[in-house]
Amino acid sequence: MKPKVVRRYDKKIVVPEGGVIDSGESPGRKIRMPGMEHMVERVLISRGCLSKRIRTLAREIVRDYRRAESIQAIAILKGAAIFSADLIRTIFDLNGPPMGIDFIRASSYRAETESSGKVEILDALTDNIAGKDVLIIEDIIDTGLTLNDIKNYILRHQGVKSLRICSLLDKPSRRKQPIEIDYIGFEVPNYFVAGYGTDYAEHFRNLPFVVVLKPSILEGKS
Ligand code: XMP
Ligand code: MG
Repeated sequence: MKPKVVRRYDKKIVVPEGGVIDSGESPGRKIRMPGMEHMVERVLISRGCLSKRIRTLAREIVRDYRRAESIQAIAILKGAAIFSADLIRTIFDLNGPPMGIDFIRASSYRAETESSGKVEILDALTDNIAGKDVLIIEDIIDTGLTLNDIKNYILRHQGVKSLRICSLLDKPSRRKQPIEIDYIGFEVPNYFVAGYGTDYAEHFRNLPFVVVLKPSILEGKS
């Protein structure tokens, strides 16, 4: 299917089967990924699309938090590391409020592609988030189990003033537990994606774009 060129970033973006690209970056382009090319089917979201969408999300966040004294970001490691780094700097560029940044490392996937449904908090919060306007930053929401657990953990932790969720990717077709997401980068089809922080068995996190993996990899046949 011919990829769609996205021109508007101010609306919810649903990624079609063929992916979203920007002029100047073709999803059919040969990507130089030594030792990994055989695992990747194609680019799904190009770096141009990611950066434009992040700017729009940052603009919405700055608008919504204009009365807040500060924003306490909580990025979920490892997947949200790259996205949160770009997002918080864009919020700064757009004259957003001061930000505190903390991290939670949670694991539900291990080296697999199916969620075990049990979330383990591996590294907990270190900041005092009591009374803060908290923004959770996540890479992808799939079944919703991970984020529901993390949300409950944060709410149990201390009294926060407000809690919002921002996820780069959303796979609503796989949802097992309903969750309200305040800011969504892209709604994606039911593919296993990797890149821009997300991984398959710890590979691909450093890609500056999001790719779809070959189904044969996920079936362990490669
Ligand atoms: P749940 O199912 O609990 O899972 O919403 C969320 C976590 O699972 C990981 N995940 C993925 N990671 N490609 C990835 O690299 C994917 O397609 C994918 N789907 C889910 C992710 O770490 C997220 O935090
Ligand atoms: Mg994650």
